[in-house]
Formats: sequence, C-alpha cells, structure tokens
Amino acid sequence: MAGLLTDEPVPHAAPSGWSAWLPAGAIIEALQVPRTVDGKLFHEVLESRRSRVGSAVSWSDVEKLLWYGCRTIHNRGIGRAGIPIEWRRAPSAGGLHAVQIICQMNYGDLSPRIYLPARHAFALIASATEAYKQNCKDVQAVLGRTTGCTLRLIADIRKIDAAYQNGESLAWRDSGSLGATLCLVAEWLGLKSTILGFAGNSYLKTIGFPDNRFLAVGAVQLTS
Ligand SMILES: Cc1cc2nc3c(=O)[nH]c(=O)nc-3n(C[C@H](O)[C@H](O)[C@H](O)COP(=O)(O)O)c2cc1C
Repeated sequence: MAGLLTDEPVPHAAPSGWSAWLPAGAIIEALQVPRTVDGKLFHEVLESRRSRVGSAVSWSDVEKLLWYGCRTIHNRGIGRAGIPIEWRRAPSAGGLHAVQIICQMNYGDLSPRIYLPARHAFALIASATEAYKQNCKDVQAVLGRTTGCTLRLIADIRKIDAAYQNGESLAWRDSGSLGATLCLVAEWLGLKSTILGFAGNSYLKTIGFPDNRFLAVGAVQLTS
C-alpha cells in the first residue's frame, strides 16, 4: 500500500524573490536582553519536560523564552533564493525560518505581538478584541481553559515557495521543530508549555494576515 502521499519538496532551479511583510500600522517595541539564567542541565531538561498547563505568565517570561529559544544568533548572508539565511536555535528547512511567532496574551494587554527574531523586538498589532476572542475559543476547545500566552506559529508560505517547489510539508516540519525547541527551552526556564493541536487559520483573519500568503501551523501554550 502506497499510503498517503505528500508532494516531494524540491529546490527551485531558478528561485524567485521574497520580501518580508508586516501588517500596516504595526508598532515596533524593542525588548530588553534578559539576565543570564542559571537553569537545569540539558539532560535534566530532557528528563523533566512534560506537556503541562500552569498559571499566568508575564511578558518578561515570554520575552525570555523568545530570546533563548527563537532569536537570530547569526545571519549567514543571503541564500540561493535571495533570502537571508539565519542561524537560530531550532533547525529550519534551508535556514529560511519561514515560521514566525505571534504572541497572544489572554489577559492584560491583548494586542497580538509578532516576534522579530533578528531584532529581539515585537511588532504590536492594533486589532486586539477579535484576535483575543478567537484565541480564547481555539485554546478553550483543546485545553479546556485559556490560561497563559498562546504562541501562534504562522508560516510565510511565500518565503518557502521562493526557494522550493511543493514546500508546504517543510512549513509543518519547521513548526514541529520550533515547537519542540520552545517546549525544551520553556522547561529549562522553569516554565510550562503544551503544543496545541489546532492549525489556527481563523485567528489569522482576525489579525489581518493575508491567507493567500500565510498558513497557520499550530501553537504552543505557555504558562508558569
Ligand atoms: C502536534 C501535537 C499536538 C498536540 N495537541 C495538543 C492539544 O491540542 N491539547 C493538549 O492538551 N495537548 C496537546 N499535545 C500534547 C500531547 O498531548 C502530549 O505531548 C502527549 O500527551 C505526551 O505527553 P508529554 O508531552 O508530557 O510527554 C500535542 C502535542 C503535539 C506534538
């Protein structure tokens, strides 16, 4: 039996161009570099990591996770498709890092925040109420509660398409790689995390991301 087939990703012989996109009116907020963390040893992290839901998290916890788990460590120049090649903590197909994180807090300041890994900054999106409501609905459906901050994983399919034919599976695999990395780093920081099973495309509409370019590829719920 052949099983379910996924089209094989193949690098384009002649890659096309790509440029980054942010919603109009997004406000950039630079983040502080967190203080050095005296966390567990790596084998202790591996042994203790579980999917868990705890209490509320602060923005400083979220920022710490993003700094240690997702920021750009080095730029490695411009790659084949005219796209910057980056080194971050999680492995990524072609070094493209086409999956970005949007942080949706479920209390306090509800503005969705796009993480900008090369700048360790947030881009704040103004449309808060609908995004918050949709996020609560999605998270409640899979966790039975909405505590914490939801890290929405959003793939820029145009970025992958610039470099590969049939690249969609790369987006899903990048999502798995990034989600696992975030969960391990959360454990190291003494936080709690759970990967969420929804894809999340309804949320994209509430924050104005064009659905002919971006694909929601899951989420991680962060609590303390
Ligand atoms: C792709 C994926 C989707 C998941 N979706 C959910 C979910 O929607 N709700 C939930 O409570 N846990 C979810 N989980 C967490 C799993 O239930 C959990 O990883 C599994 O029970 C093993 O437990 P452990 O992570 O503590 O080792 C998901 C995990 C993965 C990898």
